[in-house]
Amino acid sequence: MNVVMIGAGYVGLVSGACFAEFGAHVTCVDKDAARIAALKAGEIPIYEPGLDNLVERNMRAGRLAFTTELAEPVAQADLVFIAVGTPTRRGDGYADLKYVYAAAGEVATHLQGYTVIVDKSTVPVGTAREVLRIARKANPQADFDVASNPEFLREGSAIADFMRPDRVVLGVESERAEALLRELYRPLNLIEAPILVTGLESAEITKYAANAFLATKISFINEISQLCEQTGADVHEVARGMGLDGRIGRKFLHAGPGYGGSCFPKDTVALIRMAQEHGVSSRIVESVVEVNASQKARMVSKIREALGGSVADKTIAVLGLTFKPETDDMREAPSLAILPALLDRGAVIRAHDPEGMEEAKKELPAAVIYAAGIDEAVQNADAVVLLTEWNQYRGLDLPRLRAQMRGNVFVDLRNVYERELMATHGFAYTCVGR
Ligand code: NAD
Ligand code: UGA
Repeated sequence: MNVVMIGAGYVGLVSGACFAEFGAHVTCVDKDAARIAALKAGEIPIYEPGLDNLVERNMRAGRLAFTTELAEPVAQADLVFIAVGTPTRRGDGYADLKYVYAAAGEVATHLQGYTVIVDKSTVPVGTAREVLRIARKANPQADFDVASNPEFLREGSAIADFMRPDRVVLGVESERAEALLRELYRPLNLIEAPILVTGLESAEITKYAANAFLATKISFINEISQLCEQTGADVHEVARGMGLDGRIGRKFLHAGPGYGGSCFPKDTVALIRMAQEHGVSSRIVESVVEVNASQKARMVSKIREALGGSVADKTIAVLGLTFKPETDDMREAPSLAILPALLDRGAVIRAHDPEGMEEAKKELPAAVIYAAGIDEAVQNADAVVLLTEWNQYRGLDLPRLRAQMRGNVFVDLRNVYERELMATHGFAYTCVGR
């Protein structure tokens, strides 16, 4: 089966490599010539554990190729996936669909033989029908269907999520399209992954509803964490007590500095706009977004209070900059809200991240000092702020850390450490909701 992925970003590259691993012949097409040149040379432009091996293996087997030219691979394709970005549109919060629509028009002109154009990008309800209209207009003679196959992978565990999904959602309107997509995903039958076949609109809304619900769980526990702080409760115990109820579930109840990333922030806002466009309310999701913004702001106050009310002229070692561990993605990372606020209040920031520093340098104010390692970051610091729970920050050598610091303030925004342990080592310890 011949598959084309339009867009070789986090989703296009991971999905493309995984479909190749399933046995399909995959060509990833991207407009970014530097990205394609790097991929052809065997360099992976993003940090995603295991992706280098997967790409290399499938390139060597002749099942995975990269190009900037879509004409030839599209002409030979059975399925063309659109996996381009759908960022927040500047000014109004709607999902910006210009890349999706441009891709649809370009793909359509090169179609030959029956082909399914599949939206894999996260797109508002109605987009598949618009893709159909654009493609039909660009090439009225073409024999094709449009389908929606939203992606649920997480960065940092993308390959495992793709290879062992909780479910695959296929929004289709024709049996031919369904048959081709089922054939592509057939290797998942072995692990009995549920394949859910729906209409186009249901598939599109399912993706936003799933992300918004997960974001709701996070904002919910973050709000509860505040109540815990005011009353002496421990949000870990509360989350466990809630999560053991099978109807609630234990996952996504970790209190922290607020959710970030390339998806929850943009998809929650896009869902609100989508609801407005269709004349319905989305008050829960609106609150989720508000609570998330205030949680990030609350972290700044927390750090200030931990340092006695002011961060002016204090050296703060920040461990972790990316929005979560095991990725170099800085999009909407809490660090982008918290660090500038600390700098504005006169703090000196010395930051470290295992994989994200190159991306961070593009996004954070120039005043941030980057440290080559943990030792360099914490040397003579007044406070350490643990902002992203990378494994290497989970087992810090606490006596050594304490000896290297000037002060003893440790602000743990991911609740990695235990208060008693930190006290034993002489730290003034602050965390979230405990
Ligand atoms: P990304 O920004 O990493 O990659 C998008 C790529 O598409 C870029 O390399 C860009 O150059 C390329 N591109 C844009 N227009 C093109 C065109 N016309 N032809 C060829 N290439 C083109 O984006 P991403 O993080 O992979 O996200 C893609 C979509 O998947 C978004 O809708 C996102 O919401 C969704 N999604 C992302 C994740 C995730 O974890 N990142 C998970 C699930 C769903
Ligand atoms: C999320 C979803 O989990 C994926 O299913 C979805 O495919 C993806 O968005 C998408 O649509 O792009 P991702 O953003 O990669 O994946 O990462 P998550 O693990 O969901 O974390 C998102 C943010 O929430 C991070 O900042 C993380 O630190 C935070 N988080 C997560 C919490 O604060 N608490 C939790 O309990 C879980």
